[in-house]
Amino acid sequence: MNLCIIGTGYVGLVTGVCLAELGHSVICIDNNEEKYNKLIAGVVPIYEPGLEELMRKNVAEKRLSFSMNIQEGVEQSQVIFICVNTPPKDDGQADLTYVEKVAREVATHMTSHKVIVDKSTVPVKTGEKVAETIKRYNKHKIDFDIVSNPEFLREGSAVEDTFKTDRIVIGVDNKRAEKIMREVYAPINAPVIVTDIKSAELIKHASNSFLAMKISFINALANICERSGANVEEVALGMGLDRRIGRSFLNAGIGYGGSCFPKDVAAFIKISDELGYGFNLLKEVEAINAEQVQLFIKKIEETLWVVKDKKIGVLGLAFKPNTDDMRNAPSIKIIEALLKESAHVTAYDPQAIENTKHIFPDIEYCNDPYAVAQDAEALIIVTEWDEFKTLDLEKVRKIMVHPIIIDGRNIFNPSDMEKHGFIYKSIGR
Ligand code: UDX
Ligand code: UDX
Repeated sequence: MNLCIIGTGYVGLVTGVCLAELGHSVICIDNNEEKYNKLIAGVVPIYEPGLEELMRKNVAEKRLSFSMNIQEGVEQSQVIFICVNTPPKDDGQADLTYVEKVAREVATHMTSHKVIVDKSTVPVKTGEKVAETIKRYNKHKIDFDIVSNPEFLREGSAVEDTFKTDRIVIGVDNKRAEKIMREVYAPINAPVIVTDIKSAELIKHASNSFLAMKISFINALANICERSGANVEEVALGMGLDRRIGRSFLNAGIGYGGSCFPKDVAAFIKISDELGYGFNLLKEVEAINAEQVQLFIKKIEETLWVVKDKKIGVLGLAFKPNTDDMRNAPSIKIIEALLKESAHVTAYDPQAIENTKHIFPDIEYCNDPYAVAQDAEALIIVTEWDEFKTLDLEKVRKIMVHPIIIDGRNIFNPSDMEKHGFIYKSIGR
């Protein structure tokens, strides 16, 4: 099939590359010239394991192309996926300016029947508004269908998540659109859930908010464990083996970050308020998440008493491992707090240093974790990269001024760390 992807960010590019790999002919459109130039040079502008190889392969096999011209994409494609960003406004509401703009542009360039698929995360009832917009700007009254087809891919494992998804959600209002969408995804072996458009939109907000709720629940529990002397990991295991609960997304830490959970929980609260229902449960999920990073900062300050002028090493900057993404990374709040107290901050991350330099141009960046540990008064673990789990701890202890590790991701066993001679603090144990 001929498919067009509009917006080649984290979601759009992965979707475009994977749909090409499934055998479709895909044109990816982006209005960012710098990004476009990288893509046509065969360079993926983000760090996402496996994506660049797959992109080059599909370009070489002529199933994947890039353009900045939306008209070209719309004219040659039967299905058009809107994958532009939907950033939060100051009050948490999703900003749908780009979705609306793209809908208008698509409408003006339509010359034959199109299926217009919203893949960007949007509040319930956006599909209706996109349909109205297209009707308004589609002067030649060309027939079209609107579909909501949310994505569930995680950064760092996005390619695998696309091919091995738990489910494909297709929100439609007629059989024709359903048939075309089933054909798009036919090569993927996964359950296909067909719903109305609004339910599909809600599935995305509900899924992300539910996962965020699991994380806030375990973080609240971690605080109870710390105060009572229990171990949150044992509690999570004991709960998680109940198949109704499940162990995943019960890792206590410094709170969820990234481009999705904070934005989607806020937007879901906002649309619920607008619909006349105050979703207080989610307000508490947000509050616990905001408090969790503050409690971690307090733990650092309590351990070191005064941080002024002390060399403090930060291991990990990205909001989670296997990505270079710094959007809503907890590391930002932690480094800000340390700088406010005039600490001397050094940092290392396997992928996110370049993106962090835009946020903190003046902290010291190191080429490896040992350079961060050298002469440090304390090490703070912020992202659980595998590389940190296999550190030579004897070496680390010897080169630090004081062997203090404050671990926001529970990557080490507390009794092992004690044996290695560390003062080791973690979350909920
Ligand atoms: C996506 C979804 O759109 C968002 O709703 C979801 O919650 C998370 O994933 P993401 O792929 O992370 O967002 O966004 P981003 O990496 O910012 O990519 C958006 C792309 O769209 C950018 O490359 C941008 O240049 C492009 N864009 C934006 C256009 O081509 N045209 C526009 O008018 C606006
Ligand atoms: C998320 C959703 O998982 C994905 O389905 C959706 O499409 C986009 O948003 P992503 O933001 O890439 O994906 O990362 P995810 O692995 O879900 O982690 C989000 C945040 O939660 C990270 O900051 C992570 O550190 C944190 N987290 C996750 C925890 O603190 N504990 C956990 O147990 C799991």
